[in-house]
This record gives sequence, structure tokens and C-alpha cells, in this order.
Amino acid sequence: MGKWFPIAYDFFMKPLEKHRFKDIRSNLLAKAKGRVLEIGSGSGINLPHYQHSVEHVVAIDPNEQMLQRSVEAVRQGKVKIQLLNAEAEKLPFADNTFDTVVATLVFCTVADPEKVILEIKRVSKPGARILLFEHVKVSNPFWAKVQDRLTPIWKRVCDGCHLNRNTLGYFKQAGLSMQEVKKYYKGTFITVDCLYQPERKGQT
Ligand SMILES: C[S@@+](CC[C@H](N)C(=O)[O-])C[C@H]1O[C@@H](n2cnc3c(N)ncnc32)[C@H](O)[C@@H]1O
Repeated sequence: MGKWFPIAYDFFMKPLEKHRFKDIRSNLLAKAKGRVLEIGSGSGINLPHYQHSVEHVVAIDPNEQMLQRSVEAVRQGKVKIQLLNAEAEKLPFADNTFDTVVATLVFCTVADPEKVILEIKRVSKPGARILLFEHVKVSNPFWAKVQDRLTPIWKRVCDGCHLNRNTLGYFKQAGLSMQEVKKYYKGTFITVDCLYQPERKGQT
């Protein structure tokens, strides 16, 4: 992983964050409550958005540089926040720990989205909310093909980011109950609010 990526990411995202994403993030994160796990927290852009309905945030990221860049955001947070170096495919938490799990612009990059969803389900309490803000594969066939074509080079430049992940499809397939899905910029970005309700034993 290039050492330059965290710096470049924050630099190029700054105008987008200020003019486009800030409101999307704050509306989504206003739904977070209780014990919150944020996966792939990057340089901590979401951390100042958590409100007092949140008891405690554990923000994990495998990139130490990203975590170091989060320290100021932790200071600006209104709630208790703990940073941890960890991967979402192998979460270092007990089963049934969190009331809310948050992932923003992360499912494009994780190595194994299905494994990450299994881990999210494992550490979520029954009834937990999963809040996502992701860029995804679009439904327009022409632009979807462009995303497919660009992804191999994009991945190399942008730290493993896939332009063409069907993140919503992975979550639906995993049986999570969709409460709200919103599309932005012709469906290139989505927010998802979904509910984790484990299947009861013996249920078909
Ligand atoms: C594009 S950045 C997004 C950062 C931030 N969440 C945001 O909304 O801007 C993707 C982040 O996911 C992290 N990441 C990559 N693979 C991961 C994994 N397997 N588990 C957890 N985080 C991961 C990266 O280190 C990076 O900080």
C-alpha cells in the first residue's frame, strides 16, 4: 500500500466532502446509537458526526497512517471514541457486541465483502442497525461496463478500490432487512440503513 494514499485521499476528497458528502454523512450517522463499530474509518471523517445517542464508538482500520490521521477527529468528537488497528474480515470482538455498525466508502476496498458481512452479523446484537454510504456499480449498462473496464487500473492507483462492487446485492443476499436505500448521483453512491435480525432456529 502506497504511503502517499492517505494524504492524497484526504486532499482529493476535501472539496467533495465539504460540498457534497457532509450532509449525506451527517443524516446517515444521526441514526447511529448505543455501542457503534465503524469499519474502515480512514482518517476519521465520520467521527465528529456521531451524536449523543451514541454511547461509544470503536473505529477500526488496518492502515496505521489512516489511524494516526484520525487523532484530531477523535478530539473533535462529541462521544467516546476508540481507534483500533484491525481488519473487517477478522473483527477482534465478541459476538453480539454492537448496536450499530457503520461503513462508509469501505466495501469498495475490502478484500472479501462476503466475509466482512458475516463478521458484521456476528458482532451485531439482534436488532442492530447497519449504516452504509458506498459507491457502487451503476444499473446503466453502458456506465456499468465503463466501471468494469476502469476497475483494474483504478484498483492499482486507489489502494484496492473497486468501482464496480455490487455492495447492496451482497447485503441483500446475506438476508439483511433493508429499511431505507437512497441513491445519489444517478446511483453511483448509495446510503443504506438495514436491520440485522438473526434467523430463529427452526425457521425456514
Ligand atoms: C476509501 S477509504 C474510506 C475512509 C472513510 N471511511 C471515508 O468514508 O472516507 C477506505 C478505508 O478502508 C480501509 N480498509 C481497507 N481494507 C480494509 C479491511 N479489510 N478492513 C477494514 N478496513 C479496510 C482503508 O485502510 C481505508 O482507510
